[in-house]
Amino acid sequence: WKAKMLLDKNYKIGVIDKRIYGSFIEHLGRAVYGGIYEPNHPEADEQGFRKDVINLVKELQVPIVRYPGGNMVSGYHWEDGIGNASDRPRRLELAWRTIETNEVGTNEFMDWSKKVHADVMMAVNLGTRGIDAARNLIEYTNHSHGTYWSDLRRSHGYENPHNIKTWCLGNEMDGPWQVGHKTAVEYGRIAQETGKAMKLVDSSIELVACGSSNTDMPTFPEYEATVLDLAYDEVDYISLHQYYGNKSDDTPNYLAKSMDMDHFIQTVISTCDYIKAKKRSKKKIMLSFDEWNVWYHSNEADQKVEPWSVAPPLLEDIYNFEDALLVGSMLITLLKHADRVKMACMAQLVNVIAPIMTDNQGSSWRQSIFYPYKHVSVFGRGISLHSIIDSPKYDSKDFTDVPYIDSAVVYNEEKEELTIFAVNKHLEENIVLDVDIRSFQGYELIEHIVLENNDLKATNTVHRSNVVPHNQGESVIEDGELQIQCTSASWNVIRLR
Ligand code: AHR
Repeated sequence: WKAKMLLDKNYKIGVIDKRIYGSFIEHLGRAVYGGIYEPNHPEADEQGFRKDVINLVKELQVPIVRYPGGNMVSGYHWEDGIGNASDRPRRLELAWRTIETNEVGTNEFMDWSKKVHADVMMAVNLGTRGIDAARNLIEYTNHSHGTYWSDLRRSHGYENPHNIKTWCLGNEMDGPWQVGHKTAVEYGRIAQETGKAMKLVDSSIELVACGSSNTDMPTFPEYEATVLDLAYDEVDYISLHQYYGNKSDDTPNYLAKSMDMDHFIQTVISTCDYIKAKKRSKKKIMLSFDEWNVWYHSNEADQKVEPWSVAPPLLEDIYNFEDALLVGSMLITLLKHADRVKMACMAQLVNVIAPIMTDNQGSSWRQSIFYPYKHVSVFGRGISLHSIIDSPKYDSKDFTDVPYIDSAVVYNEEKEELTIFAVNKHLEENIVLDVDIRSFQGYELIEHIVLENNDLKATNTVHRSNVVPHNQGESVIEDGELQIQCTSASWNVIRLR
């Protein structure tokens, strides 16, 4: 089988904001306790953070991490997590019905983020709380000194402000499951007023308003329109969340779900621009796809977890090879919208629907989805290029005209490197992708990395890594044409310089 691609270094979608390779740590399950933080672990550092986990996060080059939730933030008292650790209260955490010990709080997480070289996207509670808690938090984290909250931070050992630049105004406020769930008007108003107060404390921050929790929400996309109508002047981004699964074990249909993600992004862009036109505004709202991933493997097990324990195993999806293919396609979709999607967070990072797992014996390992995430984060920096692809297509249960070859192209001008990311969604046929690279004369192949497996359901465990990439992919350059051999059901990274 054959597919064709045309590209040119002058046809630019936009500069890729590295924050699209962000991730997420929520106080949920074993993400914090037993994940990033385990003071009794042999590899724990002086603050109790696991160095093996820090190294795996660094391998992913995660530029920004959303924190502390998620659904959890909608009932969170950030004041519980500051000051002397032994004085901190244990609380009922209502979103996941667990006990939160508050051993890790804002300052510790800021320390951890420095260790992994990431910025923090901090979320405020607009479920059970509002303007006052949010403006006090930003005074605590971002104001230098001479006021109650900033001096309290200094008394806690943090002389310099954390200067957190990116803030989420609540989480999934459209969802009936959310503690403090709000209609679009209720949320739009509180987002507007909270955002106003936060920017009065620190005018250099950027704010993310909640959009819809997924494309199936009955209020999508009216929720976005109403919220933006009310809070347009205060906010800079609107958030999108989406998880996919393969419950019906229909792999062609599952792999086509990146088309739904693409449609979601396009609809949110149109909604933002409709409100922009309505307001005669010059300001463009950007998109923050701050929760995305595969999530379904652990659904049944989670039903059996008894409430009110500390850090129970929750949302511990064990990812297989086909999940890595869809994750690759979702990353490609983000790259194709690099002009408007400026932030995105793979949800989440450790143990909870995560690329990195730890067990209670002290080990840590990489799940299948770790690899496409790492490849795109490491090699996908620069400019996202338009490419015209002529690929054979298929129809599935929910989608028509699904291209078998899904691809994105990144040009790193500084390093003079070109990287092509491609998924072959055909489960039986290899496809040769011919790429016209005339505008990249003299470029030579560095490597062709491939993630492939005969078993779509193959997984990695603590003992065995069954899904790992190799760099023996078959690609050749001849007469200005690059020929990429995309084996059936494969994730491909082709690097040229
Ligand atoms: O990431 C897991 C959960 O998914 C988050 O807490 C919530 O925001 C979403 O529904």
